[in-house]
Amino acid sequence: MYDAINSKYTYKGTDILKNKLDIKDEELLKEYETRIVAFKIATISTLTIKMEYSPERLKFIHKYLFEDIFYFAGEYRQENITKGNFRFSEYVYIEDNIKQIFQKIDIEEMKKMSFNEFIKILSYIMTELNVLHPFREGNGRTIRELIREVCFDCGYVIDWYEINHDDILKASIKAVFDETEQIKMLRRSVKKVI
Ligand SMILES: Nc1ncnc2c1ncn2[C@@H]1O[C@H](COP(=O)(O)OP(=O)(O)OP(=O)(O)O)[C@@H](O)[C@H]1O
Ligand SMILES: [Mg+2]
Repeated sequence: MYDAINSKYTYKGTDILKNKLDIKDEELLKEYETRIVAFKIATISTLTIKMEYSPERLKFIHKYLFEDIFYFAGEYRQENITKGNFRFSEYVYIEDNIKQIFQKIDIEEMKKMSFNEFIKILSYIMTELNVLHPFREGNGRTIRELIREVCFDCGYVIDWYEINHDDILKASIKAVFDETEQIKMLRRSVKKVI
C-alpha cells in the first residue's frame, strides 16, 4: 500500500485515488477499475499500434488502459511512492531514466537473440520499468502489456492471464534483487509463434 494519505492524488484524509467515477469506496473503486481495465487490455491488441518503442508508447498504453478512471492516465507520477519496504525511483528522474530503459528495446536485435537471451532481456526490461514505476497507479498492467507487445513483435506470444497473478507479483518483487524466479516464469510462459 502506498503511503498515500497526504498525496495530492487522493481524496483528503484517505488513501483512495481521486477518480473520474468519483468513487470514494476503496473496494468499489477496485472492482470498477479492475473490470474496465480488463476490458481495455482485451481490446488493446486490436489497435495495431504503429509506434516506435519509446517512452511515448508506454504512456499511450497507460492512457488507453486507465483514461476512463484516472485523470493522470498517460502521465508520469509527480510524487514519490513506496510499496512494502520498497521505494520506487525518485519521480524527478523518471523522464531521464525511462529513455535509458527504452534504448535497450531494440526489436531487430532481440529477434536475432537465442530464446534464453531474449527472455533475460525481457525480464531485465520488466524489472527496470517496475523499479522506475513511472505512473501513480497501474504500472504492473501497463508494463505487462508492453512486454506482450515486445514479444509479439519478436515472434512470440505471452498470455498473462494464464499465469497466477500472485506468482507474477511475487516474482516481480523478488526480481528487484534476483531475477531468477521471474526469468523462470517468463521462460515457461513465452511461446514461439509457429
Ligand atoms: N514490494 C514491492 N517491491 C517491488 N515491486 C513491487 C512491490 N510491490 C508491488 N510491486 C510491483 O508493483 C506492481 C503493481 O504496481 P501498480 O499497482 O502500479 O500496478 P497495477 O497494474 O495496479 O497492479 P498489478 O501489477 O498487481 O496488476 C506489481 O505488479 C509489482 O511488480
Ligand atoms: Mg495497483
